[in-house]
Amino acid sequence: MKLISLLTICLVTITFATTAQTTINITTSHTALSLQTDADSSLLLAYFGPKLGSNAEYAYIHGLDKFKPGNDDLLNKHEAYTAAGSLHLLEPALALTHSNGDKSTALHYVSHTVNRIDDNQTLTAIRLEDPVYHLQVTLYYQSYSREDVIEAWTVIQHHEKGNVVLNKYASANLTLGAQAFYLKSHHSGWGREMNAYEAALPPGILTLDSKLGARANLLQSSSFMVSLNHPATEETGEVIAGTLAWSGNFRIDFETFDENYLRITAGINNYASNYTLAPGQAFVTPKFIFTYSAQGKGAASRHLQQWARNYQLLNGQGERSTLLNNWETTYFDFDEAKLNALLHDTKKLGVDVFLLDDGWFGNKYPRNNDKGGLGDWQPNKQKLKNGFTALSKEASATDVKFGIWIEPEMVNPRSELYEKHPDWVIREPGRKEYYMRNQLVLDLANPAVQDFIYRTVDGLFNDIPALAFIKWDCNSLIYNAHSPYLKNQDHFYIEYVQGFYHILEKIRARHPQVPMMLCAGGGSRVDYGALKYFTECWPSDNTNAFDRIFIQWEYSYYFPSIALDNHVTDMGKQPIKFKTDVAMMGKLGFDIRVNELTPQDLQFCQQAVQTYNSIKDIVWHGEQYRLQDPYKEKTASMAYVSSDKTQAIVFNYFVATTFSTTIGLPIKMQGLDPAKQYRIEEINLYPGTISPINNAPTYSGDFLMKVGFNPEVSARRSSVVLRISAM
Ligand code: DGJ
Repeated sequence: MKLISLLTICLVTITFATTAQTTINITTSHTALSLQTDADSSLLLAYFGPKLGSNAEYAYIHGLDKFKPGNDDLLNKHEAYTAAGSLHLLEPALALTHSNGDKSTALHYVSHTVNRIDDNQTLTAIRLEDPVYHLQVTLYYQSYSREDVIEAWTVIQHHEKGNVVLNKYASANLTLGAQAFYLKSHHSGWGREMNAYEAALPPGILTLDSKLGARANLLQSSSFMVSLNHPATEETGEVIAGTLAWSGNFRIDFETFDENYLRITAGINNYASNYTLAPGQAFVTPKFIFTYSAQGKGAASRHLQQWARNYQLLNGQGERSTLLNNWETTYFDFDEAKLNALLHDTKKLGVDVFLLDDGWFGNKYPRNNDKGGLGDWQPNKQKLKNGFTALSKEASATDVKFGIWIEPEMVNPRSELYEKHPDWVIREPGRKEYYMRNQLVLDLANPAVQDFIYRTVDGLFNDIPALAFIKWDCNSLIYNAHSPYLKNQDHFYIEYVQGFYHILEKIRARHPQVPMMLCAGGGSRVDYGALKYFTECWPSDNTNAFDRIFIQWEYSYYFPSIALDNHVTDMGKQPIKFKTDVAMMGKLGFDIRVNELTPQDLQFCQQAVQTYNSIKDIVWHGEQYRLQDPYKEKTASMAYVSSDKTQAIVFNYFVATTFSTTIGLPIKMQGLDPAKQYRIEEINLYPGTISPINNAPTYSGDFLMKVGFNPEVSARRSSVVLRISAM
């Protein structure tokens, strides 16, 4: 192994091919995934956990295999990628039908390459082959050392005499050993995104999946955490966090076996998707992203957040715009005069962008409600008498930026598009049409539809020269999944998502920087496959600030705050300060009637925008710590700490649902420098209020992390934001 590290440091790709036992270690700063061949050339997943002190000792792990005897003499190798039909009788990662109809596959190690991309990223590619068939499977593992994150995906190819049909084709599987396993998963509905459920995995299989086509996360999230041995807390315990970068049907199987083992198999859902692979064609699975932490869920989430900002989220290390959105203030009821007034309100509030939401388009079928117009992307002549030109001029005269909503994958049956191109619509011929929100989904598998969507979005940039923001919505899942274009309907769910990505690739090639919000009737499409093209997402249509604390809390396990758009709205009865504080925990926006605010509320909002501008860098790019859990305590407390540990912003909310007046225990900080002295000051105060927090004393980081601080939240001070600054 010394040879490997020496050569890889020289930034070359090295190829290995051997018949002797081979050990391949995929490592990050603190983690190792060790793969080893056995005497039959099977590639075993020998270990995934904390990195060992000595590289040489990974090779011994294989020898411990006698502790994995298989249940009741069932042969059960812990292979790196389990193929069905030969040895493996548990849930496989790969199942396929060979060109001769045979369903048995075995994979043997052939060679591997290690490519050190830079001082942080290493790509390992391992070639496996079926000894009987001309089938090649290449396992890819890209490791991110500083973030402790690994991406795994697979490329399947064959040179058989005819087509091979892929019946299951997961991105990866991971086999873990422990006394018990606790799965934390997330279940959703519209306005109820990311409800957490954590329980011990029972014997057998538990599957998290989606068959919804689009809006794939409407019912379940494709992100999860598994604790080993005991349920991990924020700061303690072994935990694996995983997420699949795919915006369509997904399937993640958790199968426990042999008392002490769990196999996680993650990938595209094979439901109704037997994929036909021609000889020579390569099938590339999406990436399964995972991280291991021995310091609880907090560290695991920070790994993913950091990785996302550095490598996945578009412009993850950059800036974002604050905005005023008109959806909840006008819904479909607006005209040019109203919009001009909103442009002025945007300026008055001090935010950067005015975002015009749904309702601006459709002429034969004006978009005055959600029953018609989707697909007809021309400005409505009644509402926008002078088109975008006048609005754009007004925006630049007012010195605010202009953004627009679009839902380009969709069509209403009441639309000119539907009349003109019925063949572009996903529906089963001869069946009753079923609608979600009165709409149907366009067939993104069809290149003509891809082109239409690309031209529609690109056209917005021509019509609105200084277009500064796009909100891309998607309000329907797919009923009657049938592509009028495809010959093989088994390819539909996959080609829909590939079509979606193809469009986004083209848009990003031409407009690489414009901020885009990923929205799907709220958070029904939040995954890293799509977030590669988007700067942010809309986590939920539920903007009630109390509920939102919980929703944002759960997203934060997988997604960084810079990616989560939060708006202050009229929803909920909390004071405007509470609502604004909650929205400031991610990317701040407003969707309120600014002209109806009391003078004091307006003054508060204006000051809050300025305060936010002074702290947003820490909120967006700092390390996030969940200090006190709203599910368990009367106070929710969330901290963001700058990377140099000189500044922290801590948001605290009184969330008691039964009678209670104050919090009980001090809140312990995390992430500070124990040796530094800090001062605590309350910020974002409502005009005229005096803070009970004395900002004179200083405390060491050590004290704040061991003893804690008291934000003085109570039923009367339900929301308190603190700035902790190093002296
Ligand atoms: C659903 C989105 O989640 C809302 O924010 C809004 O854009 C509506 N669609 C508009 O129809």
